[in-house]
Amino acid sequence: MSIRRLALGLAVVTVLTLAASAGAFAQTATIRQYQFAPRADGAAYEVVLKQVPRPSPAAHEVLVRIHATSINGGYDVEMRDRKPGGPGDLTGGVPFADGAGEVVALGTGVTRFKVGDRVVGIFMPRWIDGDRTTEGLASSRGGNAGGMLAEFVVADEQSLVTFPKHLSYEEAATLPTSGVTAWVGLFKYGRLKTGDYVLLEGTGGVSTFGLVFAVAAGARPIITSSSDAKLERARKLGAFGTVNYRADPDWQKAVRALTGDAGVKQVLEVGGRATFAKALETLAFDGHVAMIGTLSGFAEQLPTGPLFQAGAHLTAVYVGSRADFEAMNAFIAQHEIHPVIDRVLEFEQAPAAFELMAHGDYMGKIVVRVR
Ligand SMILES: NC(=O)c1ccc[n+]([C@@H]2O[C@H](COP(=O)([O-])OP(=O)(O)OC[C@H]3O[C@@H](n4cnc5c(N)ncnc54)[C@H](OP(=O)(O)O)[C@@H]3O)[C@@H](O)[C@H]2O)c1
Repeated sequence: MSIRRLALGLAVVTVLTLAASAGAFAQTATIRQYQFAPRADGAAYEVVLKQVPRPSPAAHEVLVRIHATSINGGYDVEMRDRKPGGPGDLTGGVPFADGAGEVVALGTGVTRFKVGDRVVGIFMPRWIDGDRTTEGLASSRGGNAGGMLAEFVVADEQSLVTFPKHLSYEEAATLPTSGVTAWVGLFKYGRLKTGDYVLLEGTGGVSTFGLVFAVAAGARPIITSSSDAKLERARKLGAFGTVNYRADPDWQKAVRALTGDAGVKQVLEVGGRATFAKALETLAFDGHVAMIGTLSGFAEQLPTGPLFQAGAHLTAVYVGSRADFEAMNAFIAQHEIHPVIDRVLEFEQAPAAFELMAHGDYMGKIVVRVR
């Protein structure tokens, strides 16, 4: 073989090897991405799978190959069920605030990440630290700003964090909304202490994060559910006490009894109209209520009497900043905490995830795998 042919052969092998090591993503001009599209009856959106050009990162952006996403009923389903049209129309928008993946390409000037880093998006890409701002709120992923339900996403390097090594992509994808919300409610605003009684309402995403966080902190979480099977699982996860709120409409009395009438120091209030006033009855003096959710609608009447009586602290929580996310990650790493995942659906099943969240039976988080 001539030297020229040998050199040519080596060059071909080198090019093929480089192409293989760069991964399949480098070869594809298009990617799969879900988008909101107006439903035929115009009353809401449906979620449709599209083939779109593969995005590339501009300066200070990174390209992330998404491995897993997770759905939030109160947010993602609410987006889908909005009426299309008018200001804030979501047509063409990418659903899901939460997603985790691997950095596969860097724009110029990126300093926070390198190719191969495992990252997860923050809920509000422009809320880095300090108090929440209007700009931060407007940047929330999965609504008007692009979401994570896609094979690849371009993101400002400031809008991502790495996550603890012991977590899988599926687990990391559950952190941005439910995890951060539960963490700020309990630790940033609630200043949870070892031994505190904590009330967690139902066994959805926020409450199960509250459960595993409270257990790790050595607190005494009391969790309610409409299902004895879920309460049994909650006990296995370390719940101090459990109450079936469907079987016992006066569940707040049972919760208080479990504290020996001392009352709970912390409430993650996710139920809204059906739970707010009852939750206050469980509260200890100087207790803290993190006002988070409206699963049964807004509690329009604020029960000021019981709030005064308990000397309660009330914080309205709206997820958290990147700094909050990083503080939570440190806690998760220190205690090797694993999120509670009910099930993992495949990418093609993403529309079914909306139905499951809206009407299904689950405990903890529902994940949609992308890779
Ligand atoms: N403010 C924020 O930053 C923020 C962040 C995240 C979520 N949220 C809101 O917080 C709420 C919870 O979110 P999530 O993602 O944890 O919800 P989720 O996962 O959809 O929670 C569903 C579970 O909540 C329980 N539940 C429903 N109605 C209840 C009631 N009346 N009393 C007690 N439990 C009830 C049920 O548990 P069982 O099946 O065990 O009965 C149900 O399975 C939602 O309203 C959401 O929009 C707010």
